[in-house]
Amino acid sequence: MYRSRSNDKLDDQVLKFLSSMQHDQSILDYDILGSEAHSIMLYEMGHLTSGELKKILTALEDAMQKPEQIQTEGHEDIHEAIEAFVIRKAGNDAGGKMHTARSRNDQVVLDIRMKIRDDINDVCATLASLIEGLVTRAKENKDVSMIMYTHLQQAQIGTFSHFLLSYAYSLMRDMERLYLVYQRVNQSPLGACAIGGSSIRIDRKKTAVLLGFDSIVRNSIDATSSRDSFLEYASTLAILTNTLGRIAEDFILWSTTEFGYIELSDRYSSTSSAMPQKKNPDPLELTRAKSAIVTGNLVSILGIVKALPSGYSRDLQEIKPPLLAASATTLDAIRVIDGAVRSLRIDKEMMRHAASTSYAIALDIAEQLVIQNKVPFRVSHRIVGALVERASKGKMPLSKLQLSDIATVLKAQNAGVKAAKLAKIIKEMTPEKSLQARKSTGSPNLQEQEEMISSLSQGISNYKIGIKRRTNKVQCAFDNLEKTVKGYMKS
Ligand code: ARG
Repeated sequence: MYRSRSNDKLDDQVLKFLSSMQHDQSILDYDILGSEAHSIMLYEMGHLTSGELKKILTALEDAMQKPEQIQTEGHEDIHEAIEAFVIRKAGNDAGGKMHTARSRNDQVVLDIRMKIRDDINDVCATLASLIEGLVTRAKENKDVSMIMYTHLQQAQIGTFSHFLLSYAYSLMRDMERLYLVYQRVNQSPLGACAIGGSSIRIDRKKTAVLLGFDSIVRNSIDATSSRDSFLEYASTLAILTNTLGRIAEDFILWSTTEFGYIELSDRYSSTSSAMPQKKNPDPLELTRAKSAIVTGNLVSILGIVKALPSGYSRDLQEIKPPLLAASATTLDAIRVIDGAVRSLRIDKEMMRHAASTSYAIALDIAEQLVIQNKVPFRVSHRIVGALVERASKGKMPLSKLQLSDIATVLKAQNAGVKAAKLAKIIKEMTPEKSLQARKSTGSPNLQEQEEMISSLSQGISNYKIGIKRRTNKVQCAFDNLEKTVKGYMKS
């Protein structure tokens, strides 16, 4: 359709190679809305008669209602196919004017911005639900003591809620990043035309408002060439899915028979074709892998845009598939983790038992020595280390050590601490006591859990209001656009 210069038609093989039609289906609606806004603006600026506008809008509405009528064969992309459809329906005299002061270069990036804007709102809303789910489960498990691990070795006593809240905080940062990216995505490039704007008088702000954008991308080269806000979005998704992968990994580990801390609901587990006893965490394993896929999507986009010359290059077409895939994969992964978290069965007894028989209490004992006996930490570290060494040789918990063992260790360290006093500290240091004694901000004591829960709940409800406001603003713009379109179609 655009081959005004060429005499020959495009080679079939090349057309197939060039076509973005397969992935353009997801921007079809946005393309129509963009064309409606553009045509209304052209009319209001005096470049179309009301009759021409009516014909164009009627054809576009027809395309919106029955997209299957749009002939895609023989066209390079959806922009060309829709314009051809409008020309066929509205006639060349009217339809042929729709592309005045516009190019596919501003058109395609407009469509992607509208699509990603919606995707960001969807991802944010889904993420808000996941964070809420984590906070809800944390509320139910504030007092469930559990071992925390470093290097996957038993480290300190914590609570299950503390873990859940740690993921919630991490995901809140993903939310913040997404929330910020939205502002940069929600700017209209329309009217930048091919690269250098137009000598035809147009109103870029008008189309931006009609389509629910907050502002315009001012510079016409920037508007058509830049994809940095999409890169930022894809990076944010890569980071977010990485967090999901971490959650998945912890849950996979804790649901093994060896740990036995949690059990996935049947709805979130697979079985084995051979081993009847199996309950496999496949959805979590796939979440872990999807994080790599989204990172791959990001790397693809980065590679495509790297060092492209200014102005549209066809390379840019190739960012659409990985970008759309990153959105879809991330949404699926968030939903899976959300469901898994909400339906998880928690074996509190197993967690408590592991905590109460573990040497993860060692640092608490060492700190009590510092607090109660003013022993330098380095000395108390050595004392408790030696106690653990003795206890582990006898395969017993620290609380089962004899007074004589404690006295021997203290003598060797020459610490000036009474064996009976240290024995009392050890006896009293249950997981519950350990958690009560933990004073620092952000640690797993009960009051800290409650404060974290309330600050996260507040944060998430603020985001939910913001997401709703943004979604409504876009919806309102589309409703108004529809009314305007219907109005012009009737007049
Ligand atoms: N199908 C193209 C894309 O997805 C649309 C823009 C084509 N523009 C051009 N000047 N060839 O990026």
